[in-house]
Amino acid sequence: MVRDFSKLMDYARHVASGVNKVIAEVVSGGPSRLYEASLHLINAGGKRLRPLALVLSGRMYGLDEGVGITAGASVEILHNFTLVHDDIMDRDQFRRGVPTVHTIYGEETAILAGDLLFAKSYEALSRLTGLLPAERLVNAFNELTWAAVTVAEGQALDMDFERRWDVTLDEYLEMVYKKTAALFKSSLVIGALLAGAPEAEVAHLEGFARGVGIAFQIRDDVLGLIADEAVLGKPVYSDLREGKKTVLIIYALSRLGPDERSKLVSVLGRRDAGVDELREATDLIKSTGAVEFADRLADEYLRSGLDSLGKTKPVDREAMDLLVDLAMYVTARNY
Ligand code: IPE
Ligand code: IPE
Ligand code: MG
Ligand code: MG
Repeated sequence: MVRDFSKLMDYARHVASGVNKVIAEVVSGGPSRLYEASLHLINAGGKRLRPLALVLSGRMYGLDEGVGITAGASVEILHNFTLVHDDIMDRDQFRRGVPTVHTIYGEETAILAGDLLFAKSYEALSRLTGLLPAERLVNAFNELTWAAVTVAEGQALDMDFERRWDVTLDEYLEMVYKKTAALFKSSLVIGALLAGAPEAEVAHLEGFARGVGIAFQIRDDVLGLIADEAVLGKPVYSDLREGKKTVLIIYALSRLGPDERSKLVSVLGRRDAGVDELREATDLIKSTGAVEFADRLADEYLRSGLDSLGKTKPVDREAMDLLVDLAMYVTARNY
């Protein structure tokens, strides 16, 4: 059965338009080139999933939607900071269908744009000063800080793994929890904390975010190998060229015989690898059943996330149902 996401999509558009307004107000100033660089990716699109998750988790416990949207702008700005720096680290040339910030403005400006966005994410959250009990806001700031620290740790692991051939599935799962699930988790937790939700509820939301966030990154790894580049808006094969230890690579390396393994290893991490070699490597990876393995694993994580969400006791049931839709949508996406 094909699930109907139209209600989620309508609400996502509504939240995104509010979030975009807050971002435009917060990320403004001069010198103009720095601000243009900082807004470049933001204006190019993006799914705005993290603010949507935040607004919905807040609503589950009675948070005002406008407050959620302002906090949502904060996590979306932080997300964009990580993307600008990620594209420098991953040497990627395009994202959201447009050239990346560093390819247009140069690395120096892109680094600064990232720094600016990092600080601006805090400025956005501080707009809530006086609108909520101070303690809730402090909790939200602490959660935002945890996310920033944890994403940096995850990105460090991701890069360390490029130079290693013995990365285990558990190490991979820790890395993707940190680089991807952590900000999802913090988005959901910030919504709940701002609403003053009980601790037990926050813990269930954390479980939800862990499952969905990991499933989301597994899906991202699969798309990074098999998606249509024009639809994805970012390069396929980049993970192979960078020697990323995605779930597909870890699984394939564990399954291939010695000759085929060396063949795959000889392509991984070679920035100058040609398209034919990369296609061949992709076929080798697929021949091990790695894509099916990854799909099954993503499904398990999605299920465990949904189980955890099912334990919550929201005051707004519709918001929770939309979060279920969100989880299904992001793990089934083809872009
Ligand atoms: C991209 O995140 C980075 C990952 C964590 C895989 P999204 O897929 O949410 O990117 P945008 O914001 O929609 O472009
Ligand atoms: C996503 O990393 C996580 C962050 C940006 C922090 P990836 O490098 O796997 O994501 P894409 O594929 O470039 O979006
Ligand atoms: Mg990347
Ligand atoms: Mg990366």
